[in-house]
Amino acid sequence: MDPVQELEQLLSEAVPSVEQARSPDELERLRVKFVGRKSRLADIMKSIPQLAPEERAEVGRRANHLKRSIESQLAARREALSSAAKAGPLIDVSLPGRAFPRGRLHPVTHTIDAILSIFVPMGFEIVEGPEVEYEYYNFDALNIPHDHPSRESFDTFFVDLPSPEPKKGRLLLRSHTSPVQIRVMERRKPPLRLVVPGKVYRPDPLDPSHSFMFHQVEGLMVDDRTSFADLKGVIEHFLKALFGAKTKTRFRPHYFPFTEPSAEVDIACTSCGGRGCSTCGKKGWLEIMGCGMVHPNVFRAVGYDPQRVQGFAFGMGVERIAMLKHGITDIRLFFENDLRFLEQF
Ligand code: DAH
Repeated sequence: MDPVQELEQLLSEAVPSVEQARSPDELERLRVKFVGRKSRLADIMKSIPQLAPEERAEVGRRANHLKRSIESQLAARREALSSAAKAGPLIDVSLPGRAFPRGRLHPVTHTIDAILSIFVPMGFEIVEGPEVEYEYYNFDALNIPHDHPSRESFDTFFVDLPSPEPKKGRLLLRSHTSPVQIRVMERRKPPLRLVVPGKVYRPDPLDPSHSFMFHQVEGLMVDDRTSFADLKGVIEHFLKALFGAKTKTRFRPHYFPFTEPSAEVDIACTSCGGRGCSTCGKKGWLEIMGCGMVHPNVFRAVGYDPQRVQGFAFGMGVERIAMLKHGITDIRLFFENDLRFLEQF
């Protein structure tokens, strides 16, 4: 090949190779290949004396030019690599960012918030009470006498400490949120509208539907005229707001010591819509809460005149509602703190 052409070709090979070199070692290999003692360029330079005189000047000039340009390109590339190394690793701005871990609310908290946010616009005020309670508030003032069998249905953890107020009986972990009704009525006069979220405790063995600690939301409305129709209206509105406008409800007569008359409220099964399935035990209905008109003895216990005031009360289990809303079949999941469960909410 004509040496001039060959020099052109060497240049066009060398330029992109040096430009793309990624390390000093690679640059050294390229230096040896293109301008080293055994390179093609060196051969061409050695052969110049044998060329025809009219070619020598031209080939010599081009060969020198080629050598200088490759050497200066190598030097520039070496410089660029070493300053990049000093600047530290390159930041790849196209990499996805690191996920910033975000906390979230527990599904029980979500459900309590959902429940309360339906009652608050109806004028119900949020109130809380103690989890360690006196026998008096948990039972006596709620018209549950000592020897009454209904005490057994609220099986209770007693606290093994001397009672600070022996007249109010022993200390216990409250077995429902109803005692907060008494605490508020004792201090305040009607009209009252309250909702009470909180933890309650019962010595039940753990199984898919029982936990020794769970949550309730209690409600109380007291005024001079408050009827069972008001109770129905509030509860029906609540259940439609929580489970959807088409939710069917029914009130079934029941017994609670603190209300008379009392009812349990069912909604048409959220799984089968009432046809009967395993969620509702083939009944088509799901029990969702207890309620009733406040018993005159309860009003007497707080110093209200049952001839002058009327009221209704209700209570519901939060986990049960959360389970129905989300299709959860084991209450223990709420308390095991397994992130694979909690991160779904
Ligand atoms: N305290 C009841 C329970 O734990 C629930 C309840 C029923 C509360 C009827 C009420 C009520 O206020 O009126 O099972």
